[in-house]
This record gives sequence, structure tokens and C-alpha cells, in this order.
Amino acid sequence: MKTTVSVIKADVGGWPGHATVHPELMRTAEENLKKAVAAGVIKDFHVSHVGDDLELIMTHTKGEDSTEVHKLAWETFQKAADKAKELKLYGAGQDLLADAFSGNVKGLGPGSAEMAFTERKSDPVVVFMMDKTEPGAFNLPIFRIFADPFNTAGLVIDPSAHQGFVFEIWDIMEDKKVFLSAPEEMYDILALIGAKERYVIKRVYPKEGGPLPADEPVAVISTDKLYHVAGKYVGKDDPVAVVRAQSGLPALGEVLEPFAFPHLVSGWMRGSHNGPIMPVSVKDARCTRFDGPPRVAALGFQVANATLGMPVDLFDDPAFDRTRQQAEEIADYMRRHGPFEPHRLPMADMEYTTLPGVLERLKDRFEKV
Ligand code: 13P
Ligand code: 13P
Ligand code: MG
Ligand code: MG
Repeated sequence: MKTTVSVIKADVGGWPGHATVHPELMRTAEENLKKAVAAGVIKDFHVSHVGDDLELIMTHTKGEDSTEVHKLAWETFQKAADKAKELKLYGAGQDLLADAFSGNVKGLGPGSAEMAFTERKSDPVVVFMMDKTEPGAFNLPIFRIFADPFNTAGLVIDPSAHQGFVFEIWDIMEDKKVFLSAPEEMYDILALIGAKERYVIKRVYPKEGGPLPADEPVAVISTDKLYHVAGKYVGKDDPVAVVRAQSGLPALGEVLEPFAFPHLVSGWMRGSHNGPIMPVSVKDARCTRFDGPPRVAALGFQVANATLGMPVDLFDDPAFDRTRQQAEEIADYMRRHGPFEPHRLPMADMEYTTLPGVLERLKDRFEKV
């Protein structure tokens, strides 16, 4: 029987503003998931947060898109949102866009990344959680983990990883997908995923003939776009990813290595600015300066018999201090641009923010040149 790791997240209220998640919401979620373990809905769970996003990390054997598991997540978010309303937290229920659950959380507001796989002798799994950014923020690091030989030594020197990986890339504007193979089609992959607001890596698969089943993903990223659901800006689509490591896959350290570079992502203040992504421990995953800078936290698990065990907070490590310092320097540099691009996002990306409301007011004041 396959093990499923389901990470389902939502912003159900910020404390204060969009900074972090109130401990009462975490407690509410934990209590509800504990009951679900007792009732046999899931096998194990870990509740976490990054910034104002409440993250439910769950293991079970019901496969991806299980109605039972999605219903559990939805109800857990509802309960946490009720608590948030009681405490008058900011944007209580922000990401719960639908009035009622209809079989799957997809399209209802929460983001999800799920992966079903046959457990190996040992299965290290990393859950990445980002706040104040969008799914395309994972393009660069995921590409580097599975396709860049300057990042992942195993692509060059490990015979079981040497053949490369297959990337499933989604066009999230047109709801289309394409499978491209690295290293052979590396330039095509990059031609797409460099446009990270439109083309996002959804999954990565091993190739046929390798040590792992070619139909079981080794990485999955949430690609839910809130504005596609809501039709207006309601907060960013702060994404999550699940990545498996070792034994024919990139080693744990190769999975973490791309995050030593605080690359520019879009999001940050009002979902309208480019800025560096800063790798932080969960305890430091509070978005403060200009509601950021965007954060990524990583929890490592040794999945065993569909249970998670204890997490290791992987960026809680001085090895990432310099990255954080560099992120602060980049934040200073970007901030000095104030309302100017490319700190502020280009017009096309501002379409779903509050800017059109301002421009609308000026419409009638324009004269012919
Ligand atoms: P594997 O056991 O995954 O081959 O790991 C090799 C290694 O030493 C990683 O640094
Ligand atoms: P969130 O998407 O994390 O709620 O942030 C929204 C925002 O406007 C931050 O400035
Ligand atoms: Mg928020
Ligand atoms: Mg958020």
C-alpha cells in the first residue's frame, strides 16, 4: 500500500496583520487532527506555520485527492477560522473562499501538495513552506535540485541519479501541462519556468529504468492561484512543496542547497513586490519588515509506515546565516526603489492587486496627446 503525504495550507487569519499564526489556531488544528488520527482518517500529522499560513502536514494511505482527507482539512480550517473570528484576527477566514466543501479543497482557496509513493527502506521527506510569495517561487530551487549539476553532485557522480528526471510543468494561465525531460530538454524547461508567474513546476518524476517507480512523483508543489478562484486580490498563493531525498534522488543537502541563494520572488507587501526569499526556522517565520521579506521554512521527516515522526527544522542552522544576511542586504536595496518597478511588480502582474482601483479613478482625467 502506498503512503500519501498531504500538505494542505490556508491563511485563516493573521496575528497581527499578516505576520504570523496565533497559537490558538495551531492548537485548534492539532486537536482536530488528533481526533482524525483516532478515527482512522489519517495516520499521523504535524501542524506548522510559516508567516500567516497554517500548514497541515498529514500522512495516510488514502491516496491523493482523498475526499475524506480534504474534508478533514477543510473542517480543520473552518474551526481555526471560527477561532480567528472570535479573536478578531486579521483577515479571519481569508483563504476559505467557498461557502461549503464540495469533495476537494482545490479551487476552494486552500493550497495543497500531495504525493503517494511506495515507501523505500528509508524515506527522507522535506516539506517546504513559503509565505508572501507565489507557486513559481519554487521553480528555481526545484530546477536546481533535480536538474542542475552545479547544485546536485549526484546528477554527475551517482549512477542511480545520473539519467536525470522528468518535469511536469503547468501553464497556470491556460490550465495546460507539459512533461519535459532533463537533461535532454533542459533549455526548453528553462524557457518556460523562467516565466515563473505563468509556468510552474507541478511535479518531478524519476525516469524509467531507474531505482524508483517512474509513475510516483519525487517532488510536488502546490500551484493553487487564489485570484483564479476569487477573481480579485485576496492575498498571495503562498505555496508549499514536498520533496523526497536520497538513494537515487538528490541527497538531503542537495535538496536544501538552492536555498542558500536568496533569489528574487514576487509577493511581499500586498502581494505586489519583488524581494528576496529568506530561509528561516519556523520560530523565525514571522513576516515583519514590509510584511516580509518572503520566507521559506523547511521541515525534514523520516517517513515510516505512513507516519511522520518528529520534524527537524532544517533552516534552523547557522549554515544559512549568511544567506539571511544577504537577503537583508537585498531587501534594503530593493526597498530603496519604493513604488518603482522592478521592486513593485510590472503592470501585468498588478492586474489582480488593488492598483487597478486607483487607476480607474484617473481614467477620465486623461487628455489626448
Ligand atoms: P545516498 O545514500 O542517498 O546515496 O547518499 C549519499 C550521500 O552520502 C549524500 O551526501
Ligand atoms: P498574505 O497573502 O500572506 O495573507 O499576505 C497578504 C499581504 O497583503 C501582505 O502584505
Ligand atoms: Mg494573510
Ligand atoms: Mg500568507
